[in-house]
Order: sequence, then structure tokens, then C-alpha cells
Amino acid sequence: MVKDLFERIQDNKGPLGKWASQAEGYFVFPKLEGKLGPRMNFQGKEVLNWSINDYLGLATHPEVLKADAEAAAEFGAAYPMGARMMSGHTDWHEQLEKELAAFVNKEAAYLLNFGYQGMVSTIDALVTKNDVIVYDVDSHACIIDGVRLHMGKRFTYKHNDIESFEKNLQRATKMAEEQNGGILVITEGVFGMRGQQGKLKEIVALKEKYNFRLLVDDAHGFGTLGKTGAGAGEEQGIQDGIDVYFSTFAKSMASIGAFIAADQDIIDYLKYNLRSQMFAKSLPMILVKGALKRLDLLRSNPGLKDKLWENVDRLQGGLKERGFNIGDTNTCVTPVYLEGSVPEAMIMVNDLRENYGIFLSIVVYPVIPKGIILLRVIPTASHTFEDIDVTLSSFEAIRAKLVDGTYKKVADANLVDMDAK
Ligand SMILES: Cc1ncc(COP(=O)(O)O)c(C=O)c1O
Repeated sequence: MVKDLFERIQDNKGPLGKWASQAEGYFVFPKLEGKLGPRMNFQGKEVLNWSINDYLGLATHPEVLKADAEAAAEFGAAYPMGARMMSGHTDWHEQLEKELAAFVNKEAAYLLNFGYQGMVSTIDALVTKNDVIVYDVDSHACIIDGVRLHMGKRFTYKHNDIESFEKNLQRATKMAEEQNGGILVITEGVFGMRGQQGKLKEIVALKEKYNFRLLVDDAHGFGTLGKTGAGAGEEQGIQDGIDVYFSTFAKSMASIGAFIAADQDIIDYLKYNLRSQMFAKSLPMILVKGALKRLDLLRSNPGLKDKLWENVDRLQGGLKERGFNIGDTNTCVTPVYLEGSVPEAMIMVNDLRENYGIFLSIVVYPVIPKGIILLRVIPTASHTFEDIDVTLSSFEAIRAKLVDGTYKKVADANLVDMDAK
């Protein structure tokens, strides 16, 4: 007998979905309203917001808003229609690509409608079944899903562990030799949950010993790291060693869209082989013109990145001084690790929002190991020192309640532990 396909779905909503009845609208799918920035409204109350990746504060920059409005008035949402290859190509797309390539020090760039799909297609286009992929086990879902399309062999290495990387590179080398294929290594410039930079310098150094090409997802590094803001490769002095550089516009650029940058011949190949772009409508002009303005501001206002880092230093320094564990972040992404159950985390975040007016995202099992609560704090250039100081003292207060069992008591009385069911 064939089962109804939906039977499983009705019975099992998945590791996160099982919490929906207790979490939706508050912990997941919350509605943040008002002008984007450090002060937004949540359920009718103003909160201090630490959960958006508008690192440089460009989302509400007056020149950005003006450029977006002018492009919308001139072009509407539709222009250009069709895929780039067919009828969706313009001088402005080319201009943006030229400027992005120059900014990240590569010969050429190509626009992607979304980072996620773009990365999936980039991986898909770069390898054939004879090639071997080696990638960091903690990679973003867009990398994992791109690798899932690969018909050949793949190896993961332990997160940011160069010994494990080299061991897997050796296995990949043997396999690639047997199959007459090549090797694609994929990692991130910045790991967005824990805030560590990918060990790009060490990986690139191994190019001396092994033959591979390197693809880097620098979603969180672009605009925040490096002298000019060109990202983790610039920060680590090895931008040339990155063969295909990728970033999204969804963070520092405060928009939608993404791009890849590489040598001209690689971009020429990808233009004709990236299925996410060949079979999808071109990035609309509002986003293209908007990205040109954002890039212009990002390049011409280094003060925005400086302010971001002043905030990062005060926040991370303050957390360390107060004995908080922030792991080994060396970027703006600021994780605060606490110990507790998922129900305790829910009560704690409720307290943080309702009584301290602080809104941030929590990450719990199954995204991270059981028993760990990760408060993910994303500082931006728009936050003030006062915002940081208020947040630091609030964190001290909630940590005390977590440790003395207050949250456990409230959780036991009010929440059903879905894990125990
Ligand atoms: C590391 C990383 N890569 C890729 C993406 C996907 O980019 P997009 O939002 O443009 O699809 C994200 C999230 O935005 C990300 O954090």
C-alpha cells in the first residue's frame, strides 16, 4: 500500500517545527516593525534590536533610501524582464559587476539574484562527477545544498581544523588522480553563527603542496573585514589565493542579491553555466541601482566600518570583562554561550524582551549541541555605546537568573518540553 505522502509531515513537523505551537510569532517568525535599525517595535513595544545584519547601517542611509526611491520611480519593479542571457541584460548590471570586481580585487564579477541559489549553482557549475569537493563541516546551508547536487565524491573536514583539512585534501587528491578530476575546496570567510573567520591563509598556503581551487562564501566578511572592507581575504592578506569569491548583498549591503568574482575566463564560463541565473529573471534595476549606491557609500565612507568596529570592541570587550564566554570570534558576529535547556532559553529570551527591552536571536539544539544556548548578538555601526552598556548589564542580570534556577522553575511550570515527549 502506498502511504499518503503527507502522513509523515502531519505527524512530524521536524526538529524546529515541533516547537511551533509554543514558539511561533515570538521566538520564530517574530514581526519586527518600524524603521530598520537598533530601535524597532516588537509586539507593540520598542526594543533594542541586535538581530539584523545591517552591519554598516546602510539600510536607512538617506542616500540609499533616495537612490532606491528614484530607481523605483524610474524603472518600477519589473525592468529588465527575462533572464540576463535572453532579455534581462543592461549597462547597469555590467557597471555594478565591474565595480564589484574592482572592489574585491578580481578581474570580473557576475551578479546573482540570491546568494543562496547563486552559491548552489556556482558549486554545481564548477564541478563534474570526476571532481572532488572538500568543505568545512560547519558550512552554510547554501554550500551544503550545492554540494548535495554534486554527482562525485566529497569530503568534509572538521570545522576550521587545518590538520583535518589536509588529511581530507590528501584523500581528495588520491581520488581526483584516479578519476582524472580536479579539487574544489569550499569554506566561509566568516562563520555567521560563531563568528570565526575561515582559516583562509592556512588553506591558501597549502596550495604550494596540493592542486585545488578555492571558493569562499564571504557573506559576513564583505564590508566588515579588511582595510578597504573587501572582506576576509583582504583581512588575511590572501585575496589572490581565493579563486572564486562570493558574497551576498543581504548583510553589509542591506539589500537583496549577491555576486561571484573571479578571473575573467571563469566568470565567462559561469555566465553561461549558472543555472540559477540562466533560468531566472534578471536582478531588477531597483536592486542594481541600489547596490551601486551602497557600494559607493561603502567605499567612500570608511568611517562606517570604523564605527562598527568601535562598537564591536566595546561589546566584545565588555562581555569578556564580565566573564561571558564569547568563544573565539574574531569578527563582528558576537556569540554569547550559556548553558541551559531549550525551555530555559525560551523563558530567558522572553524575560530579555519583555523586561529588559532587548531583542536578539537565540540559537539552540539542534543547530548547536544540546545544553548550550547561544545568544547571537549582531552589532552595527548604528548602535550607540549606551545601547551596548544597557545590553551588557541586562546580560549580567539574565545570566544570574539562569544560574540560580529561576528560568528553570518558570519553564517547568509553564512549558512542555517537546524533547521529553
Ligand atoms: C554565509 C551565508 N551565505 C549565503 C547566504 C545566502 O544569501 P542570500 O540571503 O542572498 O540568499 C547567507 C544569508 O544571507 C549567509 O549567511
